[in-house]
Amino acid sequence: MRIAVVGATGMVGEVMLKVLAERNFPVTELIPVASEKSVGKLIEFKGKSYAVVGMQTAVDMKADIALFSAGGETSLEWAPKFAAAGTTVIDNSSAWRMDPTKKLIVPEINASSLTKDDKIIANPNCSTIQMVLVLAPLHKKYNIKRVIVSTYQSITGTGVKAVQQLENEYAGVQGEMAYKYPIHRNAIPQCDSFEENGYTKEEMKLVRETQKILDDRTIAVTATAVRVPIVGGHSEAVNVEFSNDFVVSDIQNILHHTDGVVVQDNNDTYTYPMPMYAQGKDDVFVGRIRRDESQANTLNMWIVADNLRKGAATNTIQIAEYLIAAKFV
Ligand SMILES: NC(=O)c1ccc[n+]([C@@H]2O[C@H](COP(=O)([O-])OP(=O)(O)OC[C@H]3O[C@@H](n4cnc5c(N)ncnc54)[C@H](OP(=O)(O)O)[C@@H]3O)[C@@H](O)[C@H]2O)c1
Repeated sequence: MRIAVVGATGMVGEVMLKVLAERNFPVTELIPVASEKSVGKLIEFKGKSYAVVGMQTAVDMKADIALFSAGGETSLEWAPKFAAAGTTVIDNSSAWRMDPTKKLIVPEINASSLTKDDKIIANPNCSTIQMVLVLAPLHKKYNIKRVIVSTYQSITGTGVKAVQQLENEYAGVQGEMAYKYPIHRNAIPQCDSFEENGYTKEEMKLVRETQKILDDRTIAVTATAVRVPIVGGHSEAVNVEFSNDFVVSDIQNILHHTDGVVVQDNNDTYTYPMPMYAQGKDDVFVGRIRRDESQANTLNMWIVADNLRKGAATNTIQIAEYLIAAKFV
């Protein structure tokens, strides 16, 4: 497979290269791609150096698959050009996610909907992926009516510039700001820009993408997304109301048998997920599973995952692995 990694110099791109190597993905030729300012920069992959190329050069190289993580605007402009050249694009930005002609894929849930005609495939938002992976098997069994989610999101979700801002603040030096406010010792109740309805784009992604991936527009979702000075991953307090009643131990058992999910839930041993320990891992961790005693058929959970892994790079590469196994590329 000739693989283009578009955004190879970025936060997600770097992890993509790591995950490709770790999973022994069948890369015969790597094409690292970034903006014009990075052209010629050397990228290490499996002991070899590769020079970064620009977008048009990459299109002309006609890779089999292009893994995009270079922002929405870049994707809107360039993904169709790669697709027209015969390259299958798997895109990490929000550009195509809600396009009704594009599939929004979490492999464990809906990869089977893919066909060889899907030339631009959307990877969901990081905070959505970790939540739906846990919700999908529960929806099947108990039917979800409503989800209330509050997120505690890592600065790595904003990219290289945000990590630099936090490091500058730790060191007490002035520098470029990724956020409007300091993030060190702070919690910013704004992830991404605001929409007309008063919610942020990140919050509305949790609403719309959940409904699309679970293929059920009747699921009500409301979200509050908060940026915290954490690097290991995103955490989410999730309250779920079902149509049907449940037994907590059955929920734990279902999740215990769900691919990609690890249950860490034992109050006696203080076992619960935390971003510090999720960092660098491909799984989604769930704990603090308990009944909401204020309302019938309702559950509380705490869900944590490394946003750069299952929330981005790993999910993208799992989609690529599915395409190869199905002989769609
Ligand atoms: N971070 C996360 O947890 C996460 C999770 C899911 C999805 N995403 C999405 O993934 C994308 C990248 O995020 P990130 O966190 O990796 O950001 P980042 O660290 O800022 O990296 C951005 C990458 O995009 C490249 N790029 C920017 N403008 C470009 C252009 N006009 N043409 C070609 N390449 C261009 C940059 O290249 P240069 O170095 O040359 O500027 C860099 O490689 C975003 O769409 C983001 O929404 C991020």
